Amino acid sequence: MTTVAPGTTALDRDWWKTATVYQIYPRSFADANGDGMGDLPGITSRVDYLAALGVDAVWLSPFYPSALADGGYDVDDYRDVDPRLGTLADFDTMAAALHAAGIKVIVDIVPNHTSNAHPWFLEAVAAGRGSRARERYVIRDGSGAHGAEPPNDWESLFGGSAWEPLGDGQWYFHHFAREQPDLNWEDPEVRADFRTTLRFWADRGVDGFRVDVAHGLVKDLSEPYAPWREVAETLRADGSHPLWDRDDVHEIYAEWRAVFNEYDPPRFAVAEAAVHPSRRARYADPQGLGQAFNFAMQEADFDLADFRATIEAGLADVEVTGSTTTWLLGCHDTPRVATRYGLPLAAGERAQQVARQWLLSDGRAPEVDLALGLRRARAAILVLLALPGSTYIYQGDELGLPEVGDLPPEALQDPMAVRSSTEKGRDGCRVPLPWTTTGPSLGFGSGGSHLPQPASFAAYAVEAQEGDPTSTLSLYRQALALRSELNRGPELHWVDAGPEVLDLERPGGWRCVTNFGPRPVDLPTGRLLLTSGDLVDGRLPADTTAWVATS
Ligand code: BGC
Repeated sequence: MTTVAPGTTALDRDWWKTATVYQIYPRSFADANGDGMGDLPGITSRVDYLAALGVDAVWLSPFYPSALADGGYDVDDYRDVDPRLGTLADFDTMAAALHAAGIKVIVDIVPNHTSNAHPWFLEAVAAGRGSRARERYVIRDGSGAHGAEPPNDWESLFGGSAWEPLGDGQWYFHHFAREQPDLNWEDPEVRADFRTTLRFWADRGVDGFRVDVAHGLVKDLSEPYAPWREVAETLRADGSHPLWDRDDVHEIYAEWRAVFNEYDPPRFAVAEAAVHPSRRARYADPQGLGQAFNFAMQEADFDLADFRATIEAGLADVEVTGSTTTWLLGCHDTPRVATRYGLPLAAGERAQQVARQWLLSDGRAPEVDLALGLRRARAAILVLLALPGSTYIYQGDELGLPEVGDLPPEALQDPMAVRSSTEKGRDGCRVPLPWTTTGPSLGFGSGGSHLPQPASFAAYAVEAQEGDPTSTLSLYRQALALRSELNRGPELHWVDAGPEVLDLERPGGWRCVTNFGPRPVDLPTGRLLLTSGDLVDGRLPADTTAWVATS
């Protein structure tokens, strides 16, 4: 396996700074063996689709052996492939096919926690109190008589106590599901083992890593413990939170950077770090991970002030980090954008809040205007793709898929839903993709689909959209192709176009104009390159974006 590419140019090294990255949730992308679960050969079979879409890279959510207590983010073995998803040989075949198509490969690294079936955890359970094996996890004595009560009142992000008993008076800590015990990053063996994992995948030709919960690894569990009501609010600007975003976490990433730099080009990393915006720069430090996700765009409403403020903040971030920012409308943890933008909002309500209330707490289903949501989602992606930096596209958004808000309760898999009688969780954005308009699981595979697809998905199928120049898939393809020609240099200038229009200009006279108001507006003079919807008498209607070449 080659890890060194002779003659690498600066452009090769910096590919990620402006990349369009397509997020694949492997279990729901394409199923080659007909068992109802997507797999790596399924991805290989769809490389032509990804190449035609025009993305620069794919990021694969975890495909490692896992009992799937949290969709694969509960990892049993970091250096293998889940047998239901394929083999290491299948991974190599897939990576080679993607690389041959000019598409880079990013894998997900989950360092905050293992699964409870990881050999380390099984050993820690068996080895008992005071054992070396217990040092690899965050384990403490319980409180009360014989340690029968948890060490403190801290709660898990998925609900319930953050502590589980080990049966001998000791308890292990888990930020997420109880099947996801948190690792102890003060332990040198944990640190060394993850460096081995990074090299394992980098040696296999992986181009980069998405680092899950990057801000959670280092914890201060010194006593006395702060009460949960103080700890529950996770964002602090001063690094003083006992569980999140502690300064020392960057020592780990400096060690990882040394590993990344063993390769030519250096391996890339992007941090998933839900931190106070003022502290995001640390994760994007070139001496650390190098790039940090900016989730602000997926929190924003389809609203001019929101978009403008979000873009300005993202660009200001770049001034501090010297990296580039990331733009995204969705991911495997967020209600689909085409639905969010079609939700009815009362004055003062935010779409993300309303979506969460509906999807995460089994509230009454609102009347979603899917046509409006899709029109706005199409307008929004043209804005994102016209921005400097890197854009992440969640699988299925290029088809305009809506959230599946009415999955039957017995079909739900997300631990957020499984652990609660009221929450629906995140499965609604993880329903397998429709490839064909008919057939078992709409071309996802020859068998069923691990989450049921609604009949309405047929209309969104790739097959239905491919030959239609007005489809959302065609819009994405055209936009990605144009972006790769037009995106030159990081500059962005705002053009003042009044209170209802977002108007920005990029080098070479590339203008991106979005009408957030109710009435059609005039377009700038120039050559019309692309619009997210039809013009009305030559003017740009509501909820529509146009790209115009002005020079
Ligand atoms: C992933 C989630 C996952 C959690 C725990 C997140 O940030 O994106 O899907 O549940 O980490 O690993």
